[in-house]
Amino acid sequence: MASKIFSATTYGMEGKIIEIEVDTFPGQAVFTTVGLPDTAVKEAKERVSSAIKNSGYDPPHFFGRITVNLAPASLKKEGPSFDLPIALGILKVSKQINSLPEDSIFLGELALDGRLRKIKGALPIALSVQEKGFKKIFLPAEVAQEANIAEKITVYPVKTLQEIVEHLQGIKPIKPLSKQANFLENIRPDKHEHDFAHIKGQEHAKRALEIAIAGGHNVLLSGPPGSGKTMLAKALPSIMPTLTTKEIFEVTKLYSIVGLTDSKNPVITQPPFRSPHHSASAVSLVGGGSFPRPGEISLANRGILFLDEFPEFSREVIENLRQPLEEGEVFISRATGSVKFPANFILVAAMNPCPCGHAGDPEKACTCTPHQLSRYRQKLSGPIMDRIDLHIEVPRLKFEKLSSRQPAEKSADIKKRVVKARQIQANRFRDKKEITNSEMSSQQIEKHCQIDNTGKNLLKQAIKQFNLSPRAYHRLLKVARTIADLDNSQDIQTKHLAEAIQYRFKEEI
Ligand SMILES: Nc1ncnc2c1ncn2[C@@H]1O[C@H](COP(=O)(O)OP(=O)(O)O)[C@@H](O)[C@H]1O
Ligand SMILES: [Mg+2]
Repeated sequence: MASKIFSATTYGMEGKIIEIEVDTFPGQAVFTTVGLPDTAVKEAKERVSSAIKNSGYDPPHFFGRITVNLAPASLKKEGPSFDLPIALGILKVSKQINSLPEDSIFLGELALDGRLRKIKGALPIALSVQEKGFKKIFLPAEVAQEANIAEKITVYPVKTLQEIVEHLQGIKPIKPLSKQANFLENIRPDKHEHDFAHIKGQEHAKRALEIAIAGGHNVLLSGPPGSGKTMLAKALPSIMPTLTTKEIFEVTKLYSIVGLTDSKNPVITQPPFRSPHHSASAVSLVGGGSFPRPGEISLANRGILFLDEFPEFSREVIENLRQPLEEGEVFISRATGSVKFPANFILVAAMNPCPCGHAGDPEKACTCTPHQLSRYRQKLSGPIMDRIDLHIEVPRLKFEKLSSRQPAEKSADIKKRVVKARQIQANRFRDKKEITNSEMSSQQIEKHCQIDNTGKNLLKQAIKQFNLSPRAYHRLLKVARTIADLDNSQDIQTKHLAEAIQYRFKEEI
């Protein structure tokens, strides 16, 4: 009789159950895999056969024709993580194992010597299958710890095929991982390479960056080469608050899906900082592929996406950012349906004012032709500029400032203010999904961003003078809300609005 065993795969952010059946027929030794397998799944037969033989069991070709069926047939199966359940199915159908539990999920890539290699997606799979009533999950030891933060499923770390066979045969049980009740309390304090204390002057830029992190707003740093734009951006992780429990699950799931978690870093607790190079392709940035995978914008979810030399990115990449910047998630359409990944990041972009870097520089003349200038600026279309809340000039520092020994404010102190402002926001969005002011809907803006008549007049003037779009108007109010939160003020005052307006992109007239 055919054997049946359960495994799983990820589809988008979810785990999907895969039922694996193995059957044998007398005759010539042939091994067939059916049920929309990709190349890695088809090649499982080679790894599985060797692993079984090298673990001391009778290999598949002893038993004639073998058929492996992966169900549901409509779902494409990817990668090598079905090696382990296929091997166990073969051992069962060839009566080398007595029984296979139906309440368990099995996952793992096999090395030819029978060792288990890590797989992708352990956490989203563990979380999904526990909801479907599975009680146990057996998976490679290297990714067992991340799966263990799923609370309702018992996790068995497996190192070799032999180990799991002996467990199933009751010869030598594998010890399941114990659940750490308060794993978040064991998070080590974060250490950062770059600190704002090392950056002299640039108070204006630092203030704007503090606002950006406090409320989750997007930033563009613009200034001549060597003025410290990259340095400022790299110091940002040192003022970002540690992720909340809900964020940790979301971020770790994404990292797990792309295989960036392991036994040393099973859980992501610090906000991500991603800085893809400007040669990056649209797919690597936004996500995609025939088995849709999250891209850099999703790996930056709940953290920072730093795009240095912003106008050097392809226009396609820049335009692709528009929808996720608005919605905080990205949709990848496929013939079989569309997949959604979270992409709620703070965009921090940096650019020189022109290709030579000296447009507007009081000390050095710009050598760019008007044509070069207009091509450079055209890359950054209006809709993108409109979604950037804080436009910051980073001037080159004068020698006196740069050589001054006066210490700048430490990141730890700036972070304290950011954390306070985030607490106010946590209170504001108590039972809601929003975390920062930047995520407010129009109704929420209506409710939380009331302004008095003086403020209204100021805004009216700004809209007229700078030709602000309705989107810009809403974004401006959100920034003003954050500035008021940093000031611990219930109301948005005129001074808060005035500061927010000052950061807004103003088209050159
Ligand atoms: N405000 C500053 N305080 C200290 N060092 C600075 C400052 N601005 C620039 N520098 C120095 O200049 C170098 C270049 O800065 P960088 O951030 O790469 O400039 P940009 O990205 O604007 O071209 C830094 O590595 C640092 O040594
Ligand atoms: Mg730079």
